[in-house]
Amino acid sequence: QAAQKGGFKHFMLKEIMEQPQVIQDGIAGRIDDATQEVVLDEIADLPIPGRLHIIACGTSFHAGLWAKYLIEEWARIPVQVEVASEFRYRQQVFQEGDLALAISQSGETADTLAGMRIARENNLPIVGLCNVVGSSVARESDGTMYTQAGPEISVASTKAMCSQMVALLLLAIAWGRKKGTLSAEAAQQLTGQLQRLPHTLSTELERMRHAAQRLATQFSKARSFFFLGRGLGSPLALEGALKLKEISYIHAEGYAAGEMKHGPIALIDSEFPTFALAPQDSLLPKVGSNLQEVQARGGKIIALTHPGTDIPSDERWEVPQMGSALDSFLFLPALQLFAYEMAVYLGKDVDQPRNLAKSVTVE
Ligand code: G6P
Repeated sequence: QAAQKGGFKHFMLKEIMEQPQVIQDGIAGRIDDATQEVVLDEIADLPIPGRLHIIACGTSFHAGLWAKYLIEEWARIPVQVEVASEFRYRQQVFQEGDLALAISQSGETADTLAGMRIARENNLPIVGLCNVVGSSVARESDGTMYTQAGPEISVASTKAMCSQMVALLLLAIAWGRKKGTLSAEAAQQLTGQLQRLPHTLSTELERMRHAAQRLATQFSKARSFFFLGRGLGSPLALEGALKLKEISYIHAEGYAAGEMKHGPIALIDSEFPTFALAPQDSLLPKVGSNLQEVQARGGKIIALTHPGTDIPSDERWEVPQMGSALDSFLFLPALQLFAYEMAVYLGKDVDQPRNLAKSVTVE
């Protein structure tokens, strides 16, 4: 096992650090060298959806929530994202042109497979996005996009989400280009940024780890945490909270920052810190005013942000700005590393957290 961990103390850390390679592998063969256009042969025969239903669980569900923003913005396709355990039992209203997209690292999650069967019974074409070749999700899809992340051993999923986000970003670009809602120039800019991402991330990860270690020693006594974000930062906040509770057993809630004032803010005091996602984008002033409200109630703030932003915080954690959707690929490992270092500091069994299974194959 020590050899498999490649010199890292835990599989989780190894898998977090593999993300530059995961991005590289996820785009390999999917961007045309000459035209810079996205090419997804796996789903070339499937129709462009009129409406998309994303079905997934856990971390894969968060990747789906994240993708909704991109697919709606670039391809102008309405997207519904739902946890599979609800999707499968709801009285769905399907219509002509609907397509289902199942996201699953393992390809064996029982609820996700059941959701796919509902889609199948209703004659929806199904795209599967999964990591394990030949898995049930792959076999039961009309077209399968593999995420090419390699085996993920740690129960808490990390690199799988990164690989799903790469594939979903490519899918959003591909559909946007086919529909004509995304210009060739905008697509080229995105694919160019994506190609530069592995290099940037690999030069940053070690620094990010040190930042996470420092914050973990400072915040390890907290019994509860909020994770807040807006836009693409909102699903990432959910994922940051999930990672922290999964492996450190610290209570954490992820919220769309604008929802705080509708209840959760009642919990804020000096013992209840907030981890804020505050990228330099059009929503930054809104996140900033949410954080002022937190600070006014004595809440401590860790702000994951870009250089030059002006926002309330007790601890600033700066990462380089990549631009729009690409920023998520630096924010995600920061959240993962924070959870990881908190769990290590607290002496938890990082790779085998209590009560959790890597793949939930029963309902
Ligand atoms: C389990 C794992 C999670 C994972 C979820 C969905 O709960 O512990 O890490 O996100 O299943 O798994 P899937 O393989 O369908 O992505």
